[in-house]
Amino acid sequence: MDVQVESGEGNMPKHIAIVMDGNGRWAQAKHLPRTAGHHAGAKAVRRTVEYCAQQGIEVLSLFAFSSENWRRPKEEVDLLMRLFITTLKQEVKRLNENKIRLRFIGDRSAFSQPLQDKIKESEQLTCKNTGMTLIIAANYGGRWDICQAAEKIIQQAVANNDSNFKVTEQLLEGCLETAGMADPDLFIRTGGEKRISNFMLWQMAYTEFFNSAVLWPDFNEDYLSEAIFDYQNRQRRFGRTGEQVDSKQ
Ligand code: IPE
Ligand code: IPE
Ligand code: MG
Repeated sequence: MDVQVESGEGNMPKHIAIVMDGNGRWAQAKHLPRTAGHHAGAKAVRRTVEYCAQQGIEVLSLFAFSSENWRRPKEEVDLLMRLFITTLKQEVKRLNENKIRLRFIGDRSAFSQPLQDKIKESEQLTCKNTGMTLIIAANYGGRWDICQAAEKIIQQAVANNDSNFKVTEQLLEGCLETAGMADPDLFIRTGGEKRISNFMLWQMAYTEFFNSAVLWPDFNEDYLSEAIFDYQNRQRRFGRTGEQVDSKQ
């Protein structure tokens, strides 16, 4: 594992991963339908993306729809799918203006053809951008990601007629949906729950967790700065002792 032991103020996280939770409860508290929470959540996405890009964050990963979210009522799932399409249509121009490269991770084959097309098109339209990479996890599950990586390795071995192949961390990492990206440094979950909910299980082995009680539609630049500040004041040890990290051994 490529480890970094930087800590202290001024050390910005390169990759921030967020579980954007609390849309439903936000709406409920206002006596609105859950769908209103998802609409408000989309605005918080825009604020967060633009702020992270301004702050020089290299990669921002947002969990938009988990492989388990299909279990929700059909009307809510349908609304979320429609919201993805309309948001993509609206935002691509803005992403280009901000030089943001968009990438989707997750099993997109389960989406309708129009949504799959829109995803592909928006990735293509932003692929030459050199600023922040925005990863949207849609129909994503950490377990699924590890399984699909294992499948790729097996397929390769079969194709090469190689029965002695070794599964190394490096090999598996290179087959994950996030291949080529640094692991998240900072993981933020809004909405107060203290769980990963099947987000980037492999990638978050050494990620710093920040839990916020704020419901996602209320999340803003100030809360994000607070999370970054908290991160900057932690000591990442990656198995070493604190003394070793202090003396940069
Ligand atoms: C997160 O908010 C959005 C998605 C999972 C798509 P929720 O919809 O889970 O909000 P709560 O947890 O019910 O408040
Ligand atoms: C996690 O939130 C998934 C997303 C934010 C997309 P959930 O609301 O689905 O998580 P659980 O079910 O409370 O763990
Ligand atoms: Mg939730």
